[in-house]
Amino acid sequence: MNPTTLDLFADSEPEQQPRREQIGERSYVLRGFALPWLERLLPALEAVLAAAPFRHMVTPGGFTMSAAMSSCGTWGWTTDRSGYRYSRHDPQTLAPWPDMPSVFFELAQAAALEAGFAAFVPDSCLINRYIPGAKMSLHQDKDEASYAAPIVSVSLGLPAVFLFGGFERSHKSQRVPVFHGDIVVWGGVDRLRYHGVLPIKEGRHPQMGEQRINFTFRTAQ
Ligand code: SIN
Ligand code: FE2
Repeated sequence: MNPTTLDLFADSEPEQQPRREQIGERSYVLRGFALPWLERLLPALEAVLAAAPFRHMVTPGGFTMSAAMSSCGTWGWTTDRSGYRYSRHDPQTLAPWPDMPSVFFELAQAAALEAGFAAFVPDSCLINRYIPGAKMSLHQDKDEASYAAPIVSVSLGLPAVFLFGGFERSHKSQRVPVFHGDIVVWGGVDRLRYHGVLPIKEGRHPQMGEQRINFTFRTAQ
């Protein structure tokens, strides 16, 4: 082969890079990034949920959240009438939150790196379960001790519209469709952006059933 032929051959090879969509200066959607991890991820999720089952928590204002929650890792995010906070113990079982499975940690770290955040060390994974109709109102993640680390948010199951807003609740949000296996990562100048999830539409996901599961990885301390 002469050099010209070689070049032509190289050009015809499809790029095998994961699809990375930029939604903010330091914010990305990594399409399908979690799919190759699912075989390890789902059994690990089952084990976490056996120890710390989903429950509906109450906001300080007295509203029951429509998304059911659990956590793993050193710190679990909780809410009740007295406020939002990270706790080392599951308030329901009084036991420490289940350890973060290594596959969770590795996936979160790989996704952060793919989005330009090296050496992400999450110590908390909030697990949200949405059934059709459940939603998450616009909010900022700001119960963490520092905002230096990014947030890594994994979507599984039914699709959702992820709202990615500005730095005030009233600012216009982008509507980002997220599907089974997608990961959204935001940090740096975007770390305190408002975000939320529109009500989940009725449906059945072939692998996950009639629900959407979200993992939110954060460095709490
Ligand atoms: C959250 O912000 O806690 C959850 C976001 C999501 O479910 O995509
Ligand atoms: Fe959040």
